[in-house]
Amino acid sequence: MRTKLEKIKLNNGVKIPPIGLGTWQIPASENLVQSIAEAIGLGFRYIDTAAIYENETSVGEAIRRSGVKRSELFISSKCWAANRTYDSVMHAFEESLRTLQLDYLDCYLIHWPFTKGDPLSWQSVNIGTWRAFEKLYEEGLVKAIGVSNFQMHHLVSFLARANVKPAVNQLEFHPGYMQKTTVAFCKKQGIAIEAWSPLGHGVLLDEPLIKEIASHYERPVAQVILRWCWHHNVIPVTRALTPEHQKENLESFDFDLTDDDIHALDTMPMMAFSGLEPDHVSF
Ligand SMILES: NC(=O)c1ccc[n+]([C@@H]2O[C@H](COP(=O)([O-])OP(=O)(O)OC[C@H]3O[C@@H](n4cnc5c(N)ncnc54)[C@H](OP(=O)(O)O)[C@@H]3O)[C@@H](O)[C@H]2O)c1
Repeated sequence: MRTKLEKIKLNNGVKIPPIGLGTWQIPASENLVQSIAEAIGLGFRYIDTAAIYENETSVGEAIRRSGVKRSELFISSKCWAANRTYDSVMHAFEESLRTLQLDYLDCYLIHWPFTKGDPLSWQSVNIGTWRAFEKLYEEGLVKAIGVSNFQMHHLVSFLARANVKPAVNQLEFHPGYMQKTTVAFCKKQGIAIEAWSPLGHGVLLDEPLIKEIASHYERPVAQVILRWCWHHNVIPVTRALTPEHQKENLESFDFDLTDDDIHALDTMPMMAFSGLEPDHVSF
C-alpha cells in the first residue's frame, strides 16, 4: 500500500511527484496565486500549467510566495498548437520561462499533436516540433520532455524518428474514458501516463456508481478516483482551488481498492468525456 507521496522515476531518471495540481481555466489572479501557494504549503510539489492557460505569471508568483526551494518543485508547462515550428517552439519556451520567472522547467509538453490541414504533413510537423524540444532538453533548460494528447497512431511514427523518447504523455483519463490502447502502448514503451481531468472535470463526483464505491471505504469520491489512477500507474493531475479539496486529494494514498471495485470503475460506460478528440479538435 502506498502511504506517502513517493516520487516516480521517469524513463530518463528524473523523478516526478505522484500527483499534480492542475490550473486549466483559471486565469491569472491573486486568488490563483494564493490557491497554488496554499497547495504547495499543503504538500503539492508538481504544478501543471500551459502557455494557453494564460496563468504562468500566477504560477511563478505562487512558487516564490510558497518559500519552497525551486529544486523541490516539479513545474511543467506546454507548448501551444500555434507554435509547431522549431523557431516558434524556442520562442514559446523562452516566453514561458520569462513569464514564470524561472530558469528551467522540469517538464515541457507538446500540448496537442498536429493532425489538421494537410493529412500528409502532420507526422513531420510533430517531429519537427520535437527537434526543438530535444534541443531544449540537451541544453538542460528542461529536465524532461513529453507529449500530451498523443494517441497510439500519433506515437508510432513519432517514436521511430525521435532521438529522445518522450518521458510522459498527458491524456484525458478517468473512469468512463480510459484510452486503453494508448495507455497500454505507452506503458510498453516506458512512457509515463498522466491523467488530465481525472475527476472528469468534476462531473464524476456526482456519479452514483462511484459514490456507492466511495461509501464502501467511507472516503470522498475524489479520493477513490485518484486511488484508482494510481492503481493503473497513472499520475493524476487534478485541479483543486480550495485547500479542503487540495488536502483531500493529497490524502488519497493510504487505502486500497478491492479488485471488484477496480473492475467496476474500469468497466463504466463512456462518460464525462470532454469531447476533445485529438484528430478532430480545431487547433
Ligand atoms: N493536456 C491537456 O490537453 C489538458 C486538458 C485539460 C486539462 N489538463 C490539466 O488537467 C488538470 C485537471 O483537469 P480539470 O481541471 O479538467 O479537472 P478535474 O481535476 O478532473 O476536476 C476539477 C474539478 O473537481 C473539483 N475538485 C477537485 N478536487 C475535489 C475534491 N477533493 N472534492 C470535490 N471536488 C473536487 C474542482 O473544484 P475546485 O477547483 O473548486 O476545488 C474542480 O471543479 C487541468 O487543470 C489541467 O492542468 C490538461
